[in-house]
Amino acid sequence: MASLLSSSLAPAFGLKEGSSECRSPEEMVLFYRREFGRAPLLVVTNREPIVWEGAGHLSFPPGGVTQTIHRLLGMVGGEWIALRDSSGPDLLRISPPRESPEAPGYLLQRLSLPDEVREAHYAGFSNGVLWPFFHDDPERVGELRNSFEAYLHVNRRLAGKVLESLTTLSPGVIWIHDYQLALVAREVRRMAGHHLPPLAFFWHIPWVDTPSPRDTAWLSEVVEGLLFHDRIGFQTEGYRERFLDTVRRLYGDRASWDGESLCVRMESGTRTLSLGVYPVSIDPAHFDRLARDPEGTRAAREVLREADLLGPGEDVRPYLVSVDRMDYSKGFLERIEILEALFTRHPSRIGTLSLLQVAPPTRQSVEAYRRYSRQVEAAVGRLNARFGRSDWVPVKTIARSLPQTILAPLYRFSSGALITATKDGMNLVAKEFLASQKGGDGVLFLSRHTGAAQTMEGLALIDPFDPVQSARLIHQGLSLDPEIRRRRNDRALASIERNNVCRWMSENLLSLRSSPAPILR
Ligand code: G6P
Repeated sequence: MASLLSSSLAPAFGLKEGSSECRSPEEMVLFYRREFGRAPLLVVTNREPIVWEGAGHLSFPPGGVTQTIHRLLGMVGGEWIALRDSSGPDLLRISPPRESPEAPGYLLQRLSLPDEVREAHYAGFSNGVLWPFFHDDPERVGELRNSFEAYLHVNRRLAGKVLESLTTLSPGVIWIHDYQLALVAREVRRMAGHHLPPLAFFWHIPWVDTPSPRDTAWLSEVVEGLLFHDRIGFQTEGYRERFLDTVRRLYGDRASWDGESLCVRMESGTRTLSLGVYPVSIDPAHFDRLARDPEGTRAAREVLREADLLGPGEDVRPYLVSVDRMDYSKGFLERIEILEALFTRHPSRIGTLSLLQVAPPTRQSVEAYRRYSRQVEAAVGRLNARFGRSDWVPVKTIARSLPQTILAPLYRFSSGALITATKDGMNLVAKEFLASQKGGDGVLFLSRHTGAAQTMEGLALIDPFDPVQSARLIHQGLSLDPEIRRRRNDRALASIERNNVCRWMSENLLSLRSSPAPILR
């Protein structure tokens, strides 16, 4: 495996010079070496990629993107800086992937913060203000109080950690992620007294459509912070366009965009950066393997038994599957309305089709989330009482997260996936479902308000704001000739296979070394 790390071998593995078409983790490493040579990687995220289970034992929470970066970092070496999520030491040496024991692994730097600062950053500003704001849900934007100060403080502390790392590490690139950390790059540049490696950022969530004037003060800080990167990646063309609109609104003719580079004259100097569109993805082969794994399949059947979805002869009763954190942006209430319309207008589905929703609680320290969970529970209760029968329940909820080893066969056994997000940066469940279905005829009913709907073609798109039409599409979709359904899935899966998570990673980091050098005054 050591020889795989040599960039001179790249052509033998089909990775063309200048190309970002990585298909496998091995090619991802070759790509990195080609772009950055032997230089390590420095990653900064809000959450850490591990859970400390005690006595030196670590577990790796699911999350394809995090695990892809974790794997790349383990192979090329470097550091990962994140806020601490569990106990254990401040510094952890993370071993390389099992199949490449000679790879360098990496160092995880875990920043500890007082609980109240952490809460004000996480529940207060990141998820009480930024999340609803960027999901076009202004009604749910919470009070600012002092949460912006906490946000700035946490971003500054992380920037300090980055600078500390730069005293011993010379990374090829610093890769920062998501809305919780929009100001890290600005703080790094302000504190740094020396030339910095390229700073890349990926914005995982949607960008707001029309910001209200009341939010301008903090929004201009967030946008300014983002402009301190050399590259920002967005999930879709639409989100990038919206970002550019916001920049124009704030900077007027001091901002210019030529289709690749954005140039903004700011008080602190002129910044030039690239804005890319890189839809986040999955490793489809991994889900296909999991979906067929005998042990996972057995465990998934147990889940189905618990949910009363196994018939007397062990046959699987028809069900649609939904897998979402209990977040208002996932459209749980809209989903219930769709089912109500389905059972009212297409009564043949009563008693013959259930919904299995896997809905782990999330962000329970944010009041809007607690309130939403209660509303959803009440709505599910009403639907089940109205349509349920002694031998059939319309909606079964599993209020905990399930590992991918169980989810993949659950996707495979299902008649379809119902994705009702009212706004979603991407929605990887859509891609995981299709990968797990490989060769199957289960139907993906995907909300048109997701990044996935914007970036994959030929799918049955539903609109969670139009329950009657969505119910009709579900009824029709499930009645389609299985061969047509299979062909549609095959086409969508082929596009996921081409645009998998390894390619997403490489597009984010492609040619960053040659991106225009920022002029700092
Ligand atoms: C979703 C979003 C990510 C975000 C994450 C935070 O998965 O798609 O962009 O970073 O939520 O989740 P957390 O559990 O840390 O609030």
